[in-house]
Amino acid sequence: MKIKNICCIGAGYVGGPTMAVIAQKCPKVNVTVVDINENRIAQWNDPDVEKIPIYEPGLSEIVKEARGRNLFFSTDVESAIDKADMIFISVNTPTKTYGIGKGMAADLKWIELCARQIASVAKNDKIVVEKSTLPVRTAAALKDILDNTGNGVRFQILSNPEFLAEGTAVDDLKNPDRVLIGGDIDTTEGKEAMDALVSIYASWVPRENILTTNVWSSELSKLTANAFLAQRVSSINAMSELCEKTGADVEEVARAVGMDSRVGPKFLKASVGFGGSCFQKDILNLVYIAKSFGLEEVADYWEQVIKMNNHQKRRFAANMVRKMYNTVSGKKIAILGWAFKKDTNDTRESAAIYVTDYLLNEQAEVVVYDPKVTEEQIFSDLNYLGTRSDEENRRMVTVVNSPMEACQDSHAIAVLTEWDEFKELDWKEIYKNMLKPAFLFDGRRLLDRKTKEEIGFEFYAIGN
Ligand code: NAD
Ligand code: UDX
Repeated sequence: MKIKNICCIGAGYVGGPTMAVIAQKCPKVNVTVVDINENRIAQWNDPDVEKIPIYEPGLSEIVKEARGRNLFFSTDVESAIDKADMIFISVNTPTKTYGIGKGMAADLKWIELCARQIASVAKNDKIVVEKSTLPVRTAAALKDILDNTGNGVRFQILSNPEFLAEGTAVDDLKNPDRVLIGGDIDTTEGKEAMDALVSIYASWVPRENILTTNVWSSELSKLTANAFLAQRVSSINAMSELCEKTGADVEEVARAVGMDSRVGPKFLKASVGFGGSCFQKDILNLVYIAKSFGLEEVADYWEQVIKMNNHQKRRFAANMVRKMYNTVSGKKIAILGWAFKKDTNDTRESAAIYVTDYLLNEQAEVVVYDPKVTEEQIFSDLNYLGTRSDEENRRMVTVVNSPMEACQDSHAIAVLTEWDEFKELDWKEIYKNMLKPAFLFDGRRLLDRKTKEEIGFEFYAIGN
């Protein structure tokens, strides 16, 4: 079966970039990305491509090339579903905030809404692709809804989890380590559907990098991959605390350990804690699934990765207070970086949110600078915590447009995102304009200790 029309429900951090790359690599396939968020779609359609809602290196160029040719963004979900041979579901699946599984399970209400809408609109057979990260066995629920509420047409459900990381999304999509496609390998229709999706990716991904599995393996592989990655960060972060007590340097330890080819060098960078919309959510979901099967030891094992991460964020903030003579009340603290990692404007679960909240509880005055995150987003993140009112947050926090302004007259600086530009700042000038002693806390191991100490900073870096 040859796919001519693709619809993707959800124009977010995954749907947008993934479909842009598919449209670029498959110019004969029409790709329509739909969303119920009108504002988001309007931004994707902004004539100025620099104003698309997601910042990712290289993305605006692809949108410029494909938009209006075979890439479309629309709020007309129904007609896009109607036209499509293949429908990707790429909606959000956040941690549930209510009811059974609150704080752990994935909230599948948007997934179910999509399934019901597809079923009610579809007038011919469709392939439905799970692109969102979902609990293992969700495909069975989707099939049930589609088959029982539809118009008698047939649906094939595939699982095709996305492994892109934000900040490198375009490169990850163009050169993926692997593409994973799970489907009904026991039926001819299932195999045909899988082949149809394989042939889309095969336009640019070497065939040997496209894995096909049964649908449950595919669903579970995504949660497993994120759990393994997050575990590496928590493992090195656990060591960073021990390094600080013993005089070992976590970067030297990571290098020595990572040179063992069985371990590998990547993803061993100690930090103030991992953030992002995926790691915590997916591990909590994994823990919930394990518990629901009565696998308490499995659940406890993975939960420790989250506990360690929460500890790391708290310990970083507590250390700032301790070093500054046990009080930051009324002291001005500059936060450099709000995004959860560099090269993205995404702030979901960013460590900066939690460190700032801790400092505000200690009555610090916080000034924030981030090159890509808006003021509105920063206040929305703080307000979402519910620790204090919007008014109080706005009284205690200022957002500025330059790092020099953020650091002016401050007692301390905390580097919380590893933006490249922070390496190149005029640190001598910054030091001159700060109150003394001038504290510099590096939560990303971004800055060079020796030169900063020579300038006069009281320098602290994670794991050293
Ligand atoms: P997102 O919140 O950025 O985007 C989801 C979009 O779906 C939103 O714009 C929302 O308005 C839209 N939506 C929700 N319900 C809808 C409906 N019924 N009809 C139309 N639109 C609807 O989320 P995201 O970061 O793109 O993540 C999407 C999924 O991909 C999640 O399951 C996530 O776990 C997974 N994932 C994310 C990443 C990542 O780096 N962000 C990576 C891999 C996988
Ligand atoms: C992650 C997975 O990497 C990706 O495969 C999946 O599809 C979505 O979740 P993402 O969250 O976008 O991607 O970014 P990632 O590069 O994994 O970083 C996650 C967090 O871990 C960031 O806060 C990052 O700063 C932190 N991190 C990462 C570290 O602290 N140290 C590291 O060595 C690596």
